Amino acid sequence: MTRHIVSVIGGKDSQAAAPYKSVNPARVEQVVAEVGLADAETFAAACRVAAGAQRDWAKVPAPVRGRVIASIGRLVEENAETLARLVTDEIGKPYAEALGEVREIVDTCDFFLGEGRRLYGQTVPSEMPDKSLFTFRVPVGVAAIITAGNFPVAVPSWYLVPALLCGNAVVWKPAEYAAASAHALYRLFAAAGLPDGVLNIVFADGAATFAGLDQALGEGSVQKVGFTGSSEVGRKIGELCGRHLQSPCLELGGKNPMVIMPDADLDLAVEGALFAGFGTAGQRCTSLGTVIVHESIHDDFVTRYTAAVRAASIGDPTGDVICGPLLDHKFADRFEEYLTWVEPHHQVLTGPTGKITESSPRGEFTGEGGLYYHPVVVDGVRPDDRLFLEETFGPIVGVTTFETLDEAIHLANKPGYGLSSSIYTTNPTSVFRFREAVSAGMLSVNNSTSGAEAHLPFGGNGKSGNGSRQSGMWVLDQFTRWQAMNWDYSGHLQKAQMDVAEITPDIGFRL
Ligand code: UN1
Repeated sequence: MTRHIVSVIGGKDSQAAAPYKSVNPARVEQVVAEVGLADAETFAAACRVAAGAQRDWAKVPAPVRGRVIASIGRLVEENAETLARLVTDEIGKPYAEALGEVREIVDTCDFFLGEGRRLYGQTVPSEMPDKSLFTFRVPVGVAAIITAGNFPVAVPSWYLVPALLCGNAVVWKPAEYAAASAHALYRLFAAAGLPDGVLNIVFADGAATFAGLDQALGEGSVQKVGFTGSSEVGRKIGELCGRHLQSPCLELGGKNPMVIMPDADLDLAVEGALFAGFGTAGQRCTSLGTVIVHESIHDDFVTRYTAAVRAASIGDPTGDVICGPLLDHKFADRFEEYLTWVEPHHQVLTGPTGKITESSPRGEFTGEGGLYYHPVVVDGVRPDDRLFLEETFGPIVGVTTFETLDEAIHLANKPGYGLSSSIYTTNPTSVFRFREAVSAGMLSVNNSTSGAEAHLPFGGNGKSGNGSRQSGMWVLDQFTRWQAMNWDYSGHLQKAQMDVAEITPDIGFRL
């Protein structure tokens, strides 16, 4: 069934400027949604509507806003299977993973519904008598949230849920190729009783969004930008926000390393590297980039890893598979380009590369009608290779070797990203040395690079982001600003730093 969807601003469907088709990547002939894309002015108008609605939303007591978050969580839970099926149809994410993604929204709501009764400020002692100091968390205003489509509902919820809980209004611009999933999530939020204009969804392409955001920032109707996507676009958004003296929340790409020490449990490492590299068809920002394996176990590891990848189930994402199709044509085209980065000094361990077709099948599977690709493991990757240095969003993993832990850490940090990382070892000293020195914002020990839980700080450094963190209590600093208040009830002016009592020590005292 093809849906027809347009932006919803202030609770009303809005005019569309251009058509877009969101297709099922497992059956590209199937149109999941006909989407009406908005222009830049419509994006800016949505921000003005949000600014109008935000003032009253901020006056709703935080515990009452928390109850709305509770309702969103319940609605998502009640609709979990329908939403997960839609995610699978629209972006080809295997159904079990899609269900996990929906679960992540519920987890996020579970965490933040209670925050409505906390949102703690502090009482702080003053340096003077008859004076008290306080801090308050104040909502930032309107948040413009621009999200990718590889996690079309969970990652948006990491922004939307805390932003709304804190008393902000939101304009959400999801990825076009995941528009139907986003629209469904919008409807669940609306059904929880959010007043019109507090959450708005705008479908637009990148250029219109950027121009609309520029306009809205200039008009003063956006106070926070959240962006999940590539480092390249993140840099542009960061520049734009910087011109308007704003610091966005940027969640960008990764070239996530997995270090395998000589004392590692190799079966465990192989299992972790399989899921990290090829789960979600390698299209998580936390997906595995390069395996950095100790030279003494390299041969053993690659033999077992190659066997595991060759045996991995790839196919229809409604079935029990580890890997479905790529998200969309755009990602398939880009993945073909990444494959050209394989050089003569590399060894491809996994057989054919490229699209799975009748003339290049994977066993019995011919990938008919879908954007399916052969999974690729490339051995012999060197630290100056493009394959080593740049994110390759898709089912491809590089392998390289090291001699000492220091060398492994150097290799792990060299690409200059810093999102996720992993180490397999049975030695606690190696774990803590790695933790201290790795540039990543997140690290796993004896676990996959992907699969972060929804209540730990999520985010990266370097090319992976500007240091902002999502999830858990840490994201509150993105969607509130601290306000400091002092209250002097002495009845006269007491000057800070000057009218302060002093207790004089006998500084010459010696035992
Ligand atoms: C992303 O790909 O943008 O940690 C997010 C993970 C998931 C989220 C990935 N929970 O792999």
